[in-house]
Amino acid sequence: MFVATPADGVAWVTGASSGIGRHVTMDLAKRGFTVIATARRVTELEALAAGHHGAGRIVAMPCDTTDTPAMADLVTRIVADYGSIALAFLNVGSNFVNWLEPFEATKGWATFEVNVKSVVNGLDPLVRHMKPLKRGQIVINASLSGYVGLTGLGYYGASKAALIHLGETLRMQLAPAGITVQVVSPGFVGTPLTSGAPFPMPFLMPVEEASRRIVRGMSRSGFEITFPRRLSYILKILRILPHWAYFPLASRFLSFKPTKK
Ligand SMILES: NC(=O)c1ccc[n+]([C@@H]2O[C@H](COP(=O)([O-])OP(=O)(O)OC[C@H]3O[C@@H](n4cnc5c(N)ncnc54)[C@H](OP(=O)(O)O)[C@@H]3O)[C@@H](O)[C@H]2O)c1
Repeated sequence: MFVATPADGVAWVTGASSGIGRHVTMDLAKRGFTVIATARRVTELEALAAGHHGAGRIVAMPCDTTDTPAMADLVTRIVADYGSIALAFLNVGSNFVNWLEPFEATKGWATFEVNVKSVVNGLDPLVRHMKPLKRGQIVINASLSGYVGLTGLGYYGASKAALIHLGETLRMQLAPAGITVQVVSPGFVGTPLTSGAPFPMPFLMPVEEASRRIVRGMSRSGFEITFPRRLSYILKILRILPHWAYFPLASRFLSFKPTKK
């Protein structure tokens, strides 16, 4: 299956202004890629682009990833200005749920809009671009919370389950076109998204290590890039259990109810 190298074209990272996306952008540039960095905050993107990044470089191209026409236009501009996109990391995601009011509809829809729509908006123009080239690598950032239902992670986990499902479908559907689809499912990573989370986060991983593992996974063609292994295996076992066994175990040991305000 196709694995992108800097000789094949540029890399595009969405959600590049902070956290996982920012570090993956820097690590891909260090590997020699020209990386197009997208997010809404222009100042953060420009500061990132101004740094030195080994053999590669970073180009700031801001966009609101929930804006469908703007995303299609952005892909057209990237290709016109920097050549074909060999690797795309569709990473934007957020969680708008107030932990103390987890069922508020507007926040639930905002979570789905950012997490799912941002990926769908990237996929459409990317597949149109990559299909005629007969090659490309698309990496979707989901989450281990998408594996199974977990108390406290309702809308967020459901949006990530949708991305995992979509990724599985596209992996099979786009392989004949030469396009490799991968899904990243991280556990807890230390980023602005998780800072101040009102519950203990088991096996919390530093963002530098998470980025290293994602970029290593991108240099191979396996479908799933997941870490930390311990949490991933626990959840994989939980999801094959019958519900009568799963519900008491998950409620007791993996419940993310707020323990502080
Ligand atoms: N941290 C974790 O524990 C963890 C675990 C599993 C999965 N993940 C996933 O990893 C991804 C990155 O999360 P993170 O932890 O690195 O969070 P983060 O530091 O908050 O980064 C989120 C990124 O998304 C961008 N973004 C948000 N809304 C956007 C929009 N409408 N248009 C364009 N860009 C937008 C933000 O930039 P602007 O604000 O500048 O737009 C920022 O660059 C997410 O999909 C998250 O669900 C994280």
